[in-house]
Amino acid sequence: MKEIIGVLGAGTMGAGIAQVAAQSGHEVILVDLNATQLEKAKSNLDKALTKLVEKGKIDATEKEAIEGKIRYASEISEFSFCNLIIEAIVEDLGVKHKVFASLEEIVSEDCILASNTSSLSIASIGSVLKNANRVIGIHFFNPAPLMPLVEIIPAVQTSEETLSKAVDLIKSWKKTVVVCKDTPGFIVNRVARPFYGEALRIYEEGIADFATIDWAMTHFGGFKMGPFTLMDYIGNDVNYAVTESVFQAFYYDPRFKPSFTQKRHREAGYFGRKTGRGYYNYAEGTTLPLPTENEELGKQIFNRILVMLINEAFDAVFMQVASREDVDLAMTKGVNYPKGLLAWADEIGLKNVLAQLQALFDEYGEDRYRPNPLLKRMVG
Ligand SMILES: NC(=O)c1ccc[n+]([C@@H]2O[C@H](COP(=O)([O-])OP(=O)(O)OC[C@H]3O[C@@H](n4cnc5c(N)ncnc54)[C@H](O)[C@@H]3O)[C@@H](O)[C@H]2O)c1
Repeated sequence: MKEIIGVLGAGTMGAGIAQVAAQSGHEVILVDLNATQLEKAKSNLDKALTKLVEKGKIDATEKEAIEGKIRYASEISEFSFCNLIIEAIVEDLGVKHKVFASLEEIVSEDCILASNTSSLSIASIGSVLKNANRVIGIHFFNPAPLMPLVEIIPAVQTSEETLSKAVDLIKSWKKTVVVCKDTPGFIVNRVARPFYGEALRIYEEGIADFATIDWAMTHFGGFKMGPFTLMDYIGNDVNYAVTESVFQAFYYDPRFKPSFTQKRHREAGYFGRKTGRGYYNYAEGTTLPLPTENEELGKQIFNRILVMLINEAFDAVFMQVASREDVDLAMTKGVNYPKGLLAWADEIGLKNVLAQLQALFDEYGEDRYRPNPLLKRMVG
């Protein structure tokens, strides 16, 4: 029997999650307080499915069937028959607390209550529930229909049954599932921090400009976008907020320290593509700056950011956030890294990674550069 899936919030993520569930054959109820958002979700779904028809991935009858599976509503009372509800509303703990408490009043005893939060603690979200062993994090990546990765996060209260049901269900949606601990940023939003943070630091030290750092990462690293292009794409408001929340949640560990450069860009309203200006100017008639294609400089930049990413990947394994395999899967399937970071470390040699980190640590004397103990142990 197919489960009935409730999705709360018809924004960027909720609409995409509803599409994935409907394409997997479930009946879906998509609820949002804002009628305009529901309309937008409906018309975006039509566009997305029309594209799939044009590409020959589905036919017109299948398109109609998928569309027929989603019911749009403005009241959570519509969720009463759901087996799973995925919440994808505003990233605000107070609001999520209120919503989870109300949801529990409506649903059956065995309905799983999941959050798509990127940065909040699942344990805290679940704390308002009478039966908290039904709470879990189910974290999709944007755009949900296209990105294969889903992080599943059991909280301290989550039962084995809730975890295994959630894992089986999301796997049946043809997603790559990784299970990770309820720690700040889970896997991807933690391990990826140096991609932005170290790039900003290199810029702030005057080593290179945005375009050159971006070039180093795409040219030598094979990343699809350089850090500044990517931050402009994500939005400096959103990316800065994640960085700040991870930094605070890690009790101000200097490894995650936000950057003044990004803060100032955000304060100036230079959010990136969506405001027409970020690190780069996207206004019509302007041309993007060219990088300084100096091979030695480019390799130095790329290596510095890569070893910082690898150090963070080691830390996620060391602190038991997820398995080695899942950390590598998460970065390749969630944010399209060209290689898993731990596999990359093996390729370039652990000794080499440690030596580069140690050199940074010795030069700066900052905790930010301390090599991970697991890496040290493995080098011996
Ligand atoms: N955008 C991303 O890239 C991304 C990726 C992964 C996870 N997330 C997480 O997913 C969640 C949603 O993010 P988003 O980017 O889709 O946000 P969004 O702003 O695009 O959409 C949020 C929607 O929730 C609705 N909403 C707000 N409060 C509500 C309530 N009480 N009841 C019903 N609907 C309500 C809003 O009307 C809006 O349509 C957040 O927790 C975010 O951290 C976002």
